[in-house]
Formats: sequence, C-alpha cells, structure tokens
Amino acid sequence: MDPSATIYTKLMLQIYDILVLNLSNRFAWRCSTPNILLPFYQQHLGDNAHLEVGVGTGYYPAASVSKLAKTKLVTLLDLNPNTLAMAETRLSTAGYRGTVESVERSIFDPLPESMKGRYDSVALLYVLHCLPGVFPQKADKVFENITPALAPGGVVFGSTILGRDVDHNWLSRTLVRMYNQKGMFGNLNDTEANLRQSLERYFEEYDLRMEGIVAIFTARRPRTRIEEA
Ligand SMILES: C[S@@+](CC[C@H](N)C(=O)[O-])C[C@H]1O[C@@H](n2cnc3c(N)ncnc32)[C@H](O)[C@@H]1O
Repeated sequence: MDPSATIYTKLMLQIYDILVLNLSNRFAWRCSTPNILLPFYQQHLGDNAHLEVGVGTGYYPAASVSKLAKTKLVTLLDLNPNTLAMAETRLSTAGYRGTVESVERSIFDPLPESMKGRYDSVALLYVLHCLPGVFPQKADKVFENITPALAPGGVVFGSTILGRDVDHNWLSRTLVRMYNQKGMFGNLNDTEANLRQSLERYFEEYDLRMEGIVAIFTARRPRTRIEEA
C-alpha cells in the first residue's frame, strides 16, 4: 500500500475527524467543514448512485444520509481496508438504507467494467493532495480512471489542498512540508493553474474556486465520452 493510504490506521481514524475535519480545516487549510465542505458535498450528491473515492472515516456520506434517502447505491472505493470498514459501518449506523458496496482498489488503477456508466456523482474530497506525483499528470490519471464511471449528466466533485502559489500561514506551510516528507501528502507542486489544466483537458464543463488554500471543483461532460459518441 502507498503511504498516502497506510497512514490511516484504526488509531489514526479515531482522531481523523477532530484533527483534519475540525482543527486543520479551520486553522491550517482555512476551509470550514460545516460551512463550506459539507454543504458543497451535499449539493452535488447524486439521486441514483454515488461513488465515494478516498473514504477516510466516512464522515461526509454518514453526515448526509437524509440527502442520500433516494440514492439506491453508494460505492466506497479506497486502497485501505480500515477506511472502507469504518465508512461502511458508519454509513449504516447513521441510517442509510440503500446498498453499500466497498471496493478495495487504488484510484490509479482503471475501474472494473461493472462500475462503468453507473454513477450520477463521484466525490473526490481530499484525495488528490494525498497522491504521489504532480499535477496535471496525477489528476489526469485519476480523471481518466473515474470518468468512465459517470452516468450521462453525472458530476465529479472534489476538494484538494494546494501546496504552491497559495497564501500559506505558518501552520499550513509547516504541515504541508511535514506531510510531504512522510509521504502522506504529495502536493508540494500542486497549484490552481496545473489542476485547471487537467480539468480543462478532461471535461467540457468545470468550475474551480479557492477557499483558504483548498481548491474546490466540480466537473461535468467528460471529453472522452463526447469524443467517443
Ligand atoms: C485525507 S483522506 C480523505 C478522506 C475523506 N474523503 C475526507 O475528505 O475526509 C484520503 C483518503 O484517500 C485514500 N487513498 C489514498 N491513496 C489512495 C489511492 N491511491 N487510491 C484510493 N484511495 C486512496 C486514503 O486511504 C484515505 O481514505
């Protein structure tokens, strides 16, 4: 397993929500979970089937069960079995009554045929900055793998912490350096401009905005689908 995923031990997952979703989002990345990321997430969830990539503790889908009331299928995809187990349990404990599927797989690998054309939403929250490599290439690889999963009219939406050309404070600069040294993050050279290049290359329609040092994006109409049609 890659260090981008091995860090999520059962112990780490116990403190993840407080450490990342509460403290780091507020003081380091300056992108609030309750005010920005959770409403953004809920706004884009699909009505029929949703694919959650890089599931962490499962906080976002579990906090959104009322929004998922009509959604028949939630597929959780992650490289780490601990995160998949925790997210699946949390989703059912929170009262989600649809089907939950767990797929233990790297997002750098193509998706199985059975997942293609199936999802009206694909979430990528705080995944790209964990992955090794540089933008636009690593985002290209991820978009190449996930776009075939979209149903017609579907949306990919996500957020990622940028390493360069952003307004770091002391805390964010220190954490970004430290996490990159440990291999938990791979975002030292991630910028808004090189993420935009990848979105532009893969989608006919996209939106990209900044909140603190976090890039927030939605993307629709993958170019490959249009070229193949
Ligand atoms: C920072 S957590 C984000 C969790 C959640 N989306 C959130 O925003 O709170 C990153 C997640 O991506 C997963 N991950 C890391 N590398 C991956 C890869 N190559 N393929 C799939 N998942 C990966 C990790 O195991 C972890 O669950």
